Amino acid sequence: MKYYSQELVEEIRSRSDIVDVISGYIRLQRKGSNYVGVCPFHNDRNPSMSVNQPRQIYHCFSCGAGGDVFKFVMDYEGLTFPEAMRTLADRAGVELPRQEYSEEAKQQADLKAQILELNRLAAKYYYYMLRQPAGKQGWDYLTGRSLSADTIKRFGLGYASKYSNDLYQYLKSKGYSDQLLKESGLMQADEKRGMYDKFWNRVIFPIMDANSRVIGFGGRVMGDGKPKYLNSPETRVFDKSRNLYGLNFARRSRKPNMILCEGYMDVIAMHQAGFTQAVASLGTAFTQQQSVILKRYTNEVILTYDSDEAGVRAAMRAIPILKEAGLTARILRMEPYKDPDEFIKAEGAEEFQKRMEQAESSFFFELRILERQYDFREPESKTAFFREVSRKLLEFEAGIERNNYIEAVADKYHLTYDQLFKMVSQTGKKLGDIQKVHKPAPLAKQRRKKAEDGSLRSQRLLIAWMSSDEKLFANIVRYVEPEEFTDPICRKAAELLMEQWKGGRLNPASLFQYFTDEEEQKKVSAMFSDTIPTLSGREEEKALQETILRVKQNSIAWQTEHMEPGDMEKLQKIVQKRREIEKLHISLD
Ligand code: UTP
Ligand code: MN
Repeated sequence: MKYYSQELVEEIRSRSDIVDVISGYIRLQRKGSNYVGVCPFHNDRNPSMSVNQPRQIYHCFSCGAGGDVFKFVMDYEGLTFPEAMRTLADRAGVELPRQEYSEEAKQQADLKAQILELNRLAAKYYYYMLRQPAGKQGWDYLTGRSLSADTIKRFGLGYASKYSNDLYQYLKSKGYSDQLLKESGLMQADEKRGMYDKFWNRVIFPIMDANSRVIGFGGRVMGDGKPKYLNSPETRVFDKSRNLYGLNFARRSRKPNMILCEGYMDVIAMHQAGFTQAVASLGTAFTQQQSVILKRYTNEVILTYDSDEAGVRAAMRAIPILKEAGLTARILRMEPYKDPDEFIKAEGAEEFQKRMEQAESSFFFELRILERQYDFREPESKTAFFREVSRKLLEFEAGIERNNYIEAVADKYHLTYDQLFKMVSQTGKKLGDIQKVHKPAPLAKQRRKKAEDGSLRSQRLLIAWMSSDEKLFANIVRYVEPEEFTDPICRKAAELLMEQWKGGRLNPASLFQYFTDEEEQKKVSAMFSDTIPTLSGREEEKALQETILRVKQNSIAWQTEHMEPGDMEKLQKIVQKRREIEKLHISLD
């Protein structure tokens, strides 16, 4: 897994100040001794992410994401560790040795990198085949759908031949194992036929991530066969819920919005017509993660889903997801055409631009769809409709925005502002009453949890203190040993800090390499981000003394609880320790 030496990793780290690097992706503001910003890893509008410069780590208090500078770049850009190394090295102007790893290390290189490499080879192969005489049918199909040679090239479109093992043979000749080929999703296997290509006799759409790396493929029949599209299965590199077709181009489009379509062909047709901000989900419903990604690049999304019932349903599902991510959504009317591809072909880019400008706000779109479920000739039904509308109006924050919408809705349905305003207030009151009822957890459970939380909190706080300052560290370890931390993660952190300290320098950010599990990393970043109360010298000393005591007492309580009954030797030790603690005088000078 590790291609680079520890020294090199630390060298790059020391040249990649975490505040500088993260500022390149999101806006950070100074707050006390920390920096804060809106976390890019979950839906949020509040600055829940804190970046700690002295310790060179970040942590989100809302979703728990956290780590060092490498982790941030890996997660934000969707990179592997070596790729993040290269990105940061480039940024810092450091030249990395071309191949610091051995042949053997290379072979063991993580599966992710190998699958990406296979995908790249496959994409090149399909691309080449499209340009061979045997690929003529594919070429004719694509150009027959009005795609230019430039567009075909830009999107790297390709062709999988009539034979169902062409790619398999090719990749085998390059020495790849069946196991790996299967993991890549490029092949299928069954008892009768053994391994064979997933895609054959189709035109191929390589699916790229935001960094233009091929992560999967879609393949379309050239005509009316079924299924119309086949898609790669999810693999180690292909997560359909976190990627968008066309995003690698759209993210650099510098347009005031993003256009969300349903299909690959729609995206391509739109880009060809100059709407380079178009993206599509990957044959699956639009997800919350995708909305968070879009929010990085824009504040407004134009939905251009198909004009049929399925398209309307898909839009209705996507709207709340977009709103939740803080995006405004508008819906483009496509009639009389089915999808953007058809529209552009029939009416051209200028007309499409006009439709974009006329696109309806998601709120009124939703009302229009909602209307269909009610019969306005029935007074009861009509009232029910307005009650539902009031509920939706309550989703806007009270104030100017909500009032504007109340006014617009009243206008549209021929009510007075006061009538509708009253209804909204009544609905709001009712909803408020419902929300007030909540179930308290059983008392015993609460108390136990509190004690556990308390001990964990002390341990984390002590780690935060230990990692803040070398002098303090030296002082603390006179009283506490790493084994006294009962929480496994705190203990491991204490051990590692101890090693660093003995080696001459504390470097909290580099601890993240030892916690490979996502959940562990979250805990570690939370721990380092624990705010140490800012107190005057005397008070701080007192708080620290108490924390040390609590950690030591907790350790004894834990040992007592986990002791073998009848282990006299252990019992004596515990008693002895308890006495020591009673007499302990902690001084921090
Ligand atoms: P559409 O049926 O709208 O196809 O499916 P399209 O994109 O307009 O393609 P053309 O114009 O007919 O060639 C929209 C998207 O749904 C997924 C694909 O991602 C497609 O782009 N899909 C559709 C599948 O995954 N499998 C299918 O069989 C059909
Ligand atoms: Mn289409």
